[in-house]
Amino acid sequence: MTGFLKPAFIVLSTLICKCYLPWGRERPPSCEVSGVVGTIGEINRVSPMTRARKPRYASRLDHMTSFKVVDFLEAAIALEAQGRDIIRMEAGQPAFETAPAIVEAATRALKEEKTQYTPSLGVTELRAAIADFYRQRYGLDVPSHRVVVTTGSSAAIGIASDLLINPGDGLQLTDPGYPCNANFVRRAGGEPQLIPVFAENAYQLTAQAVGQHWRDNTIGVMAASPSNPTGEMIEWGNLCAIHDVVTQKNGTLIVDELYHGLVYDQREKTILEYSDDVIVINSFSKYFGMTGWRLGWMVVPEAALEAIGIMTQNFYISPPSIAQYAALGAFRPDTIALMEERRTEFKRRRDFLVPSLRDLGFVIPHMPAGAFYVYASIENIAEDCEAFCWDMLERAGVAFTPGTDFGHNLARQHVRFSYTQDMDRLALAVERLHKALAV
Ligand SMILES: Cc1ncc(COP(=O)(O)O)c(C=O)c1O
Repeated sequence: MTGFLKPAFIVLSTLICKCYLPWGRERPPSCEVSGVVGTIGEINRVSPMTRARKPRYASRLDHMTSFKVVDFLEAAIALEAQGRDIIRMEAGQPAFETAPAIVEAATRALKEEKTQYTPSLGVTELRAAIADFYRQRYGLDVPSHRVVVTTGSSAAIGIASDLLINPGDGLQLTDPGYPCNANFVRRAGGEPQLIPVFAENAYQLTAQAVGQHWRDNTIGVMAASPSNPTGEMIEWGNLCAIHDVVTQKNGTLIVDELYHGLVYDQREKTILEYSDDVIVINSFSKYFGMTGWRLGWMVVPEAALEAIGIMTQNFYISPPSIAQYAALGAFRPDTIALMEERRTEFKRRRDFLVPSLRDLGFVIPHMPAGAFYVYASIENIAEDCEAFCWDMLERAGVAFTPGTDFGHNLARQHVRFSYTQDMDRLALAVERLHKALAV
């Protein structure tokens, strides 16, 4: 933006739209979104007027933060509604159609009226199909009764947190990491113990860091491989060593394997190949592209099943029935073949996007191993990731996510791009960013 336009733009957005947020961030006028302010504490503090109209919410929620990617998603949708063409690289959802076998299975389930509550740990056929998937993919025998089907892996993370955390307990998480994890820990009354991770360790924990940061109240570690936002993996020997440190300390290791299946240059291994004494989280959202069906799963130690069964019965009775029957179509050979084609396509996109962003001045220390994210430093381009993301959304029509969504560690100098759009759109995004950065 030119020297004259930028101040004019800021004044206009402040005066006309009054969308100046409590923590001092300004949004361009056209990016106004409804609803979320920041933390619930901030909502409580917003204004006497607002307070008069709203009940006070529980202080347990005071440190819960909004999911900034949703702010950008809503802003992008608002701009699209005004007729702008926005290249959507903010959200983590594959932009492919649902696989035909999944649609067929869902349609059949509807015709057969399979619309009632199911067993709360999931329908037997699906638990068996997931166990079979472990046999085929990893050559591993996972008894199907240790598979728990959940309403998205989000519910699985909540259940794992509620299972393990007493008020005041700490769970180690990476910074940067998937932002909702810390909020699940807080919901259980626990303390998210954020461990800064850096590019030299592929933004992942090491056994040494876990040991060093272990405190008296620490009860476990949650790691994701590949991770969101970095797409980086934990090297296998290191993952096993982390497991050993955690079990020596009588803690529990939770591994989020949500992006398994979206790994491009190596074969991924599940921690279940090393130990049964772990909680594994997975989902139909990413590899199978079923985000809106809200279906995930966990593999848990035998001893945890009873407590988890009580929680699932109480918290949501059962996962959605139609989604469960639809997911049976996910394991058909034609669906797996389609997903493998998509994996190849994601790799092609990654191999295009990473060098292109580097050419524009983004710093990406090494090629991310998987998922569909590029976590890039803007140290040579801009100072503040949030201002930069709003600016690029407004001027370039490209939506991506500020690093501050994922933690505190060098967060202001990072952004996350999702490469869920097709190659033509990614090429257009690079072209638009090139033009916007040249101004
Ligand atoms: C690392 C990670 N874990 C869990 C989730 C939750 O996904 P879902 O509830 O759709 O399974 C996400 C979503 O983006 C994620 O990136």
